[in-house]
Amino acid sequence: MRVVGRLAGETLYAVNDLIRPGITTEEINTFVHEDTLRKGAIPAPLNYRGFPKSVCTSVNEVVCHGIPGSRVLAEGDIVNVDVTHIYQGFHGDTSATFYVGEPSEEARKLVEVTRRCLEIGISVVRDGSRLGDIGAAIQEFAESFGFSVVRDFVGHGIGRRFHTEPMVSHVGTWGHGPKLRSGMTFTIEPMINVGPPDVRVLADDWTAVTIDGSLSAQFEHTILVTDTGAEILTARPGLMSNSERYPEFASSLVSS
Ligand code: MF3
Ligand code: CO
Ligand code: CO
Repeated sequence: MRVVGRLAGETLYAVNDLIRPGITTEEINTFVHEDTLRKGAIPAPLNYRGFPKSVCTSVNEVVCHGIPGSRVLAEGDIVNVDVTHIYQGFHGDTSATFYVGEPSEEARKLVEVTRRCLEIGISVVRDGSRLGDIGAAIQEFAESFGFSVVRDFVGHGIGRRFHTEPMVSHVGTWGHGPKLRSGMTFTIEPMINVGPPDVRVLADDWTAVTIDGSLSAQFEHTILVTDTGAEILTARPGLMSNSERYPEFASSLVSS
């Protein structure tokens, strides 16, 4: 799990250099597909329950499971890229939301709050804490900014299989739910909306969009529960996407 996590994190990190106005989501797919194979890994999304591509690319109002294609990224868009590798039978699942050119104030606030939601969710994990603590921590933080937490998609256990128990809700109640135990591996992958939490799935049976067409962002890591905290198996260098251009905003969130 450590090895596949590192490889998936490396692929997602390399996507950063690709993102600019004018590229298509198909080009992101081509890069992720080839980079995955270069590492000796397999792209888990390809043919997973009929998914037709090697990565999910979710632009603006797309909450998750966007299918790469001819859509051209435009200045001011946000795009989540969700990479899952299989290496020696194990899965590593990680995503980040990237800015295409310069984001609007709204987009930047949503994306930075969502990035922090993942970090806060991870921060409450340790042997003996409760599954509900993760959702409670994320929900409190997101809602304090007036944003909403998507209910219809959740994090998941992961290992030899892509999606296993437990379901990791991004809303919850402190002290509730099963106890986390050292050695468990699962994802945390909050989807945060500017508008209501409701989603609808398009006729392609995959693309989930916000009910009101407003923006949604997501970040995801695969983590290992330890006696004292969590090991981020899909960690990568630097911050979780290309917003290191906005360090002042990131630090204002930490102190709020
Ligand atoms: N990577 C997604 C997750 O975080 C699952 C994508 S399933 C696919 O769970 F088929 F769309 F790839
Ligand atoms: Co996942
Ligand atoms: Co994922």
